[in-house]
Amino acid sequence: MSEQGFSAAEREAVYRAIAERRDMRHFAGGSVAPELLQRLLEAAHQAPSVGLMQPWRFIRISDRPLRGRIQQLVEEERVRTAEALGERSDEFMKLKVEGINDCAEVLVAALMDGRERHVFGRRTLPEMDLASLSCAIQNLWLAARSEGLGMGWVSLFEPQALADLLGLPAGAKPLAVLCLGPVTEFYPAPMLALQGWAQPRPLSELLYENYWGVSQ
Ligand SMILES: Cc1cc2nc3c(=O)[nH]c(=O)nc-3n(C[C@H](O)[C@H](O)[C@H](O)COP(=O)(O)O)c2cc1C
Repeated sequence: MSEQGFSAAEREAVYRAIAERRDMRHFAGGSVAPELLQRLLEAAHQAPSVGLMQPWRFIRISDRPLRGRIQQLVEEERVRTAEALGERSDEFMKLKVEGINDCAEVLVAALMDGRERHVFGRRTLPEMDLASLSCAIQNLWLAARSEGLGMGWVSLFEPQALADLLGLPAGAKPLAVLCLGPVTEFYPAPMLALQGWAQPRPLSELLYENYWGVSQ
């Protein structure tokens, strides 16, 4: 192990947060102390970003009726998603796909406007802004898990409808409704796996050597 490595206990904590992070949809209400929320947002804000563009913007939803309108947008998209799924529609409608009404905090994570000005690392791959925002959300997710708070990423919404609702400028785009807060317990495995919707594949099936599809 490199001299720059963390202590054994610290390493274990990092891997534990990664392994025990779950996408949560069941919350126990309660609240998140302001200083803790600030710590989590600072963790998100330390994420890597393409060309250091820091494309993330977070909107804390403190207005209860506004939270309700966001939940309504998600519900509308949930129904449309079920219709699009065809034969798995009924099965999908039985899944719990968000905990917006029960979580302590709702944060909307959005891409900033004016992203076209940032060319470094995005000339051929403009979606690297989305990748950067995702890194920030993952930081938040892992930090929240280490603090004993659950988080759920909800992406079932019409982005323009949510942008209009929250007054986003042209060119900005909401990508996540994040539900955050205390939970009674963390799921022992991805909830979609526990409910039989999908099963995770092992790393060995997704790891190639030199050429696509060639296993080690
Ligand atoms: C980009 C992204 C969008 C997601 N959107 C939703 C969503 O709208 N509703 C939901 O219930 N889960 C959503 N999830 C959670 C995934 O279903 C979950 O990460 C996956 O099933 C693995 O479970 P785990 O996160 O507990 O390991 C999303 C996850 C990601 C990374």
